[in-house]
Amino acid sequence: MSTSVRTASPDETRAFGRRLSDVVQAGDVIALEGDLGTGKTELVRGIAEGLDVVTSVHSPTFVLHHRYQGRLPVEHFDLYRLQGLAWVDTGLDEPAPDAVTLIEWPDRAAVLETWATTLIRLQPRGEQEREFTLVRGPERIRDLFEHATRD
Ligand SMILES: Nc1ncnc2c1ncn2[C@@H]1O[C@H](COP(=O)(O)OP(=O)(O)O)[C@@H](O)[C@H]1O
Ligand SMILES: [Mg+2]
Repeated sequence: MSTSVRTASPDETRAFGRRLSDVVQAGDVIALEGDLGTGKTELVRGIAEGLDVVTSVHSPTFVLHHRYQGRLPVEHFDLYRLQGLAWVDTGLDEPAPDAVTLIEWPDRAAVLETWATTLIRLQPRGEQEREFTLVRGPERIRDLFEHATRD
């Protein structure tokens, strides 16, 4: 079975994120890999919505991450601005055990990348089409990818 899911609009991406929120657990670390504009933040928005986060989700700009309160807290990292730095000390020893951690541009901080037990690759497939491929992840997330159909 395929481990890729396609969406045809930002709304569909958020809807897919809401479905993902049903299977994530505290302590999960999900890396989102894909170029600018592929929908990483949009997917984070959907996951946060599904976890009853009420504040609006924007990529952290001057800090490494935001923490949003929800049914499960969401730790949202966006490491885009770390480009060009040879080494980054995040000061963090371990992923938040009580939260779901979502990381955009995970390759820019090796320590965070090693935390990620789930890796989702995002690719543009048209102006409004995006493909989400589960590269690795636990069974519950794999199941969701395998059964997801367009909303
Ligand atoms: N199917 C889709 N899923 C997500 N975003 C889409 C989709 N189609 C078009 N878009 C647009 O692509 C952009 C994605 O932005 P964003 O989520 O911030 O990307 P990233 O965080 O990967 O840089 C938004 O402008 C959004 O409206
Ligand atoms: Mg983003």
